[in-house]
Amino acid sequence: MTLAENTPLRAPHPRPDAVLRLACFPHAGAAADAFAPLARALPDDVEVLTFQYPGRRERRSEPCAADITDLAQEAARFLAPFTDRPLSLLGHSMGALVAFETTRLLEQRGAVARLFVSAARPPSEDWGEQDLDTLSDTDLVAELRRLGGVPEALLREEDVVEEILRLLRADHRALRRYECPPDGVVKAPITVLLADADPKNTLAQTRGWARHTTRGCDTEVLSGGHFALTGRDPAVAGLLSDRLRDRKSTPADLVREIYLGGAPALTTDLTALEERARAVMTPTAIGYVLGDAGTGETGRLNRRAYARWQLVPRMLRGAARRDLSVTLLGQRLPSPVLLAPIAAQTVVHPDGELATVRAAAAVGVPFVLSTGSSHSLEDVAAVAGPGPRWFQLYWPSDRAVAASLVRRAEASGYSAIVLTVDAPAFGYRPTDLDQGYLPFLRGHGIANFTSDPAFRAGMPADGGVLQHWARVFANPTLDWDDLPWLRTATSLPILLKGVLHPADARRALDLGAVDGVVVSNHGGRQLDGTVAALDVLPAIRAAVAPDVPVLVDSGIRTGSDVLKALALGANAILYGRPYLHGLTLDGEAGVAHVLRCLLADLDLAMALTGCPSTADITRDLLLPRSEGT
Ligand code: FNR
Ligand code: LAC
Repeated sequence: MTLAENTPLRAPHPRPDAVLRLACFPHAGAAADAFAPLARALPDDVEVLTFQYPGRRERRSEPCAADITDLAQEAARFLAPFTDRPLSLLGHSMGALVAFETTRLLEQRGAVARLFVSAARPPSEDWGEQDLDTLSDTDLVAELRRLGGVPEALLREEDVVEEILRLLRADHRALRRYECPPDGVVKAPITVLLADADPKNTLAQTRGWARHTTRGCDTEVLSGGHFALTGRDPAVAGLLSDRLRDRKSTPADLVREIYLGGAPALTTDLTALEERARAVMTPTAIGYVLGDAGTGETGRLNRRAYARWQLVPRMLRGAARRDLSVTLLGQRLPSPVLLAPIAAQTVVHPDGELATVRAAAAVGVPFVLSTGSSHSLEDVAAVAGPGPRWFQLYWPSDRAVAASLVRRAEASGYSAIVLTVDAPAFGYRPTDLDQGYLPFLRGHGIANFTSDPAFRAGMPADGGVLQHWARVFANPTLDWDDLPWLRTATSLPILLKGVLHPADARRALDLGAVDGVVVSNHGGRQLDGTVAALDVLPAIRAAVAPDVPVLVDSGIRTGSDVLKALALGANAILYGRPYLHGLTLDGEAGVAHVLRCLLADLDLAMALTGCPSTADITRDLLLPRSEGT
């Protein structure tokens, strides 16, 4: 689209056929040409439109805007025709507020793809800006020098300086007058651009932007000072180009974010979470969540199994940027990590699964919801993100209830059924038995039953819900002959969870009843004395066809553990207790923190072993530890 006459929009490098558009809003005192280098550096399929504020350059005869919202109204009016292709907005410093208000106005008529805010605090927070009208010209020039936006040669020209100061003071008046309205939220995702040596903004100060979007908010850290964005660094153009196409920063960037922003609230040591969580859990939660079956030997073995393998990293293999994605059941997943089904999550946090899946959506990790969830599968689906969600089925003794659960899962967008077969009965768990505690009999983890029409229909008129649940929940008589029925009951792919013998995996696939298996000993919670899941993974991988999805869980804590599991043949892993510890310690934010840490650790492990993609994680990266070491 070409620009209309009398428009305040400029195209420093016109690319009328570009498929992506980026509308840019300059900082106080600046003009539209501030973005000319960026416009040139972006690829040919991106057109930059910049907004010339009144009062400067060819608009010098007009008065400067008194209000940010006046600027936004003018910008929105002229940008509206450009929403026919993906349009993102970018504002630098004061321009961030104009871009934010313009986005709000544009969203009344159409969508804005993404809002970039650079070197700017959130609109609802006090920017702490000085009143420039009370500052002398000399002091103001000194401040300009400190921030470094204007070339020294220009700062020596009197009439140029005079014009800059005039604009700066006028723009600042508008900036200081601005107040974010109470409903100041956009629907577009926000990317905060923050330079690591910006004297005016820190990560902590820019965090609050997350409150101003109903979609995700993330931060990209640039190298340089307050004007890193409008400098000529090609890395900035590359980064913006990626984000305009919705390509994300890498998980390992978390490390940089933490070094720049300071220590996080929760530990980043994924093996220390358990002790931190234990310190704040109730005794019954400790028993249920942390307890293992019997002597706890299998629980300990699960960890030792990972320690028995050592990584032998490869160097110089071009792993500067890693692709963590995997394909599973025909779907591309962002990483080989899914959340394991964990029942009764309200035992550790009142929001339970709702907090967990919100965090999973924020980090982009698919989840498997337990039949024993404390919120119904429909309520969970309603707050889940757009990524895949699977439903874990405990096949109840009443087949009508089984059919109903599967139907409901299908109707609510769950895209696979994970049938858990290693719990025909709860294992012998002294930590629960000693306290006489089973969460379900205290009302946790039964929402999928109490909300189920088939379950309710089977309830005796005078009977209690809990007694009926106890009759229906488990199905100790389930056997191989039952599996084909499930196949007919759903068109979704089915995975069998809790398989430890290669012959069982083989049999399930030969029956044609399942599409994949999850190698698991239930985290050591079922039968004490069983093998570690990792130790049977290679044999199970070998027993099934190469294209059959094989997942593994039990004992996985760190990025290196995930790498080892993949090197031994797993297509993906289920992450278990650590995310529940995050939930215990800090609800949704705690789960998100734990998942970000795991993905950062995995991303770095891939970088350090020389694996540009998950396909490069192969068996030859591993050496079994020799005896006695
Ligand atoms: C589980 N697990 C589980 N598995 C399942 O198929 N359905 C379920 O409802 C539950 N519930 C459950 C509750 C709690 C408190 C825990 C800790 C685990 C097992 C889970 O999916 C996974 O197999 C293990 O958690 C893996 O072991 P780690 O890595 O968590 O120790
Ligand atoms: C547990 C069941 C619910 O491990 O899987 O407690």
